Amino acid sequence: MNLPPVNRQSGWLKREMSRTTIGTALQAAVGALDAAASPQLDAQLLLGHVMGLGRAALLAHPEHILTPAQAAKFDSLIRQAAAGVPIPYLTGHRAFYLHDFLVTPDVLIPRPETEHLVEAALAWAHRHPADGEGLTLVDVGTGSGAIALSLAAALPAAAVHAIDISPAALEVARRNARRLAVTDVYFHQGDLLAALPEAVQPDLIAANLPYIPSDDLDALPVARHEPRLALNGGPDGLALIRRLLAQAVMRVGEAFCLLLEIGADQGAAVATLCRETFPGTAVRVIKDYAGHDRVVEVTP
Ligand SMILES: C[S@@+](CC[C@H](N)C(=O)[O-])C[C@H]1O[C@@H](n2cnc3c(N)ncnc32)[C@H](O)[C@@H]1O
Repeated sequence: MNLPPVNRQSGWLKREMSRTTIGTALQAAVGALDAAASPQLDAQLLLGHVMGLGRAALLAHPEHILTPAQAAKFDSLIRQAAAGVPIPYLTGHRAFYLHDFLVTPDVLIPRPETEHLVEAALAWAHRHPADGEGLTLVDVGTGSGAIALSLAAALPAAAVHAIDISPAALEVARRNARRLAVTDVYFHQGDLLAALPEAVQPDLIAANLPYIPSDDLDALPVARHEPRLALNGGPDGLALIRRLLAQAVMRVGEAFCLLLEIGADQGAAVATLCRETFPGTAVRVIKDYAGHDRVVEVTP
């Protein structure tokens, strides 16, 4: 990105005036990001990140001059954003539900749609004793820890177990747990519920597992930057969900809740799998704000 000079005068005034201000930097960046869905917001988030300022402060002081180091850093971030790198990987964090989560390219960037799963989990948990006392909650495929740690923060008396097959993802989740100062969260590395100690009986299992069919991945921009391990759901997208269901039925007690995030067109197929695995239970498909199937809930 070439940041435009403020004017064309000569001498010291040119040197003074051609310094990059917040206003000129944002203007040039919006031009460079014109193919993005939200160029203004993206530019403001990145400049705010570089300068340690909120968006309101940026907009209130367009005349403020960037240091050369800030201008160079901003230029580099805008180039990466223009090449398609997601903004949260550039700023290193992303808001989810009520908290801010560290994210790295080792974890999926938490999505707003997943907040429906957290809300369904909390609605179920709040029918039980205050603060989740005595409840054991398990998040399978925790990634950044978005689901597990949102639940742990909302239900401080519950025991929360967070599982991921990726050691690097678990490290991000652990860092987020320290940042949010949540306690009673246990991290396990391994394959689905096989990683959960035998003695632990889950009351609630929440899982946002990979659910994109393998053949669809190459055509999806999301797969260019986010970990394939977090996206690849096998030939029909349901390979991990199928395996989790087979494990879950062996692990839950009489009263339980199972919540699965799914793709927009997977509601009927996953509901059928759940009814086959847990006959006689109540299976409900919860839609997101766009009206798409998003979460399948199984309760006795
Ligand atoms: C779609 S991401 C969800 C991340 C996070 N829960 C969220 O909602 O933002 C799926 C996660 O499942 C993990 N995963 C993939 N296969 C797994 C397996 N066999 N066992 C446990 N975790 C797995 C991936 O590493 C990834 O972190």
